[in-house]
Amino acid sequence: MVAEIKSYTVIGVNAVEVTVQVDAGRGLPSVAIVGLPDSAVKESKERVRSAVVNSGYPFPTKKIVINLAPADLRKEGTIYDLPISVGILFSQNIVSEAKLKDYLVAGELGLNGEVRRVKGALAFAILAKEKGYKGVILPFKNAEEASLISGIEIIPVKSLVDVVAFLNGDCVIEPFKENRKSGNFQFDVDMADVSGQFHAKRAVEIAVAGGHNLLFFGPPGSGKTMITRRIPTILPEMTEREIIETTKIYSAAGLLSGGVVNKRPFRSPHHLVSDVAMVGGGSNLKPGEVSLAHNGVLFLDEFPEFKRSVIEALRQPIEDGMVTVSRISGTVAFPSRFILVAAMNPCPCGFYGFEDNVHQCSCSPFQVKRYLSKVSGPILDRIDIHVSLPAVKVEELSKGEKGEPSASIRVRVEKAHSIQKERFKNLPISFNSHMGNREIRSFCVMTLEAEGILNRAVSTFRLSARGYNRIVKIAKTIADLEGEDNIKPHHVAEAVSFREIVKVN
Ligand SMILES: Nc1ncnc2c1ncn2[C@@H]1O[C@H](COP(=O)(O)OP(=O)(O)OP(=O)(O)O)[C@@H](O)[C@H]1O
Ligand SMILES: [Mg+2]
Repeated sequence: MVAEIKSYTVIGVNAVEVTVQVDAGRGLPSVAIVGLPDSAVKESKERVRSAVVNSGYPFPTKKIVINLAPADLRKEGTIYDLPISVGILFSQNIVSEAKLKDYLVAGELGLNGEVRRVKGALAFAILAKEKGYKGVILPFKNAEEASLISGIEIIPVKSLVDVVAFLNGDCVIEPFKENRKSGNFQFDVDMADVSGQFHAKRAVEIAVAGGHNLLFFGPPGSGKTMITRRIPTILPEMTEREIIETTKIYSAAGLLSGGVVNKRPFRSPHHLVSDVAMVGGGSNLKPGEVSLAHNGVLFLDEFPEFKRSVIEALRQPIEDGMVTVSRISGTVAFPSRFILVAAMNPCPCGFYGFEDNVHQCSCSPFQVKRYLSKVSGPILDRIDIHVSLPAVKVEELSKGEKGEPSASIRVRVEKAHSIQKERFKNLPISFNSHMGNREIRSFCVMTLEAEGILNRAVSTFRLSARGYNRIVKIAKTIADLEGEDNIKPHHVAEAVSFREIVKVN
């Protein structure tokens, strides 16, 4: 009889059902795997043979054909070691059929029969639930991520012997229950370390509260990197939905070291990063930095030093919150909604426009222009908050006055987040920065006086329609931070102070 064990493969960040068929028939003893397996799957037969024998079971001296269906879907990795072993044992009547139809099975095997972690276990559990299975049998080390999905049994196994005993009803394996700690994280840095720079710290607070992209513009040593590195300390806790979304990406990429991603990601790739590493793709379709930063922060320090193509490739993920990457077999979409924080100097020497008694800019106008033109207008246009950051004065530094601690900033940010959660509960957006024209019209109510200030700002600074919307959205976030329903004059005034400062021609 042909054994059929249900398993999965990952496409992008989602799992698709795969049926592992094992047929042990007459013929010269051999094992063949068909159904578009990659080399890791092909090697499976060697691991399976040793694992089965070393677990104390006989290996059939028959012609074994293993088919991974659907055959037109490429199968990668080591997921099928366990389902293939179970199929081989089933063909010898060592495993009974009763429970097999209720569970999906996946796991890598060591030569001694131990079950090892696989990629994409969270997507696997989601698939099992969607398809109405009773549960999944999966490696113990994948159990925590899979347990984010409730309503199905997560059966954690450590060895092939465990699996056989469970399927035959010889032992009971308790389904894994989540036991997650709340996201109370300790940091060894704090916003309070930053002296002065109130405008920049406030900008960070607003950016984080409303999901706005942020650009720091200033001379060397003004604290751009220092302030940005402290952003994780004021990020609000992740919601359950966000934890699942981000964990799914890390799980599919095989980057989970254990447990789940319950701390907002903060990614700061080096400026030599390649296009593929930034947006994802490659022969094995991996998510890029923009997706690894999903629901968190993507920090691009020394922004103009990034390759032009890398900077341009950010447009789609910033605009859509998704990035689509293609390979021969098809196209995959990865989620990529992040807050972009970019930091840059005004020119190669770093002091253009920020000269003082000590520092003079030594660049020619051409050098300045060429430097700035590395960052294109359309990208700058997608950054809501622009902050000019002059170096803090030595007197101010030496005073060593403590700023507001991160914990109290985070309280305001959390409040603004919950207001937005309620506001957008029936919409596919989460933050003020995601609002389109329609949402701006329906949610951003302004007092007459505030509208007057905004109109004056538009004509004084000759703002575009996009610039106008940007200010309204920032003003809305500022109002949310104060818990105000309507946008008031001082909200608009503060929002205008973050208008575009870097002009690229
Ligand atoms: N406001 C500040 N309060 C306390 N320390 C500061 C402040 N600004 C700068 N510093 C000190 O100066 C150092 C350099 O700052 P930082 O690396 O953030 O500068 P930067 O703006 O990123 O410069 P660059 O343009 O060269 O990257 C910090 O590590 C910190 O010790
Ligand atoms: Mg820096």
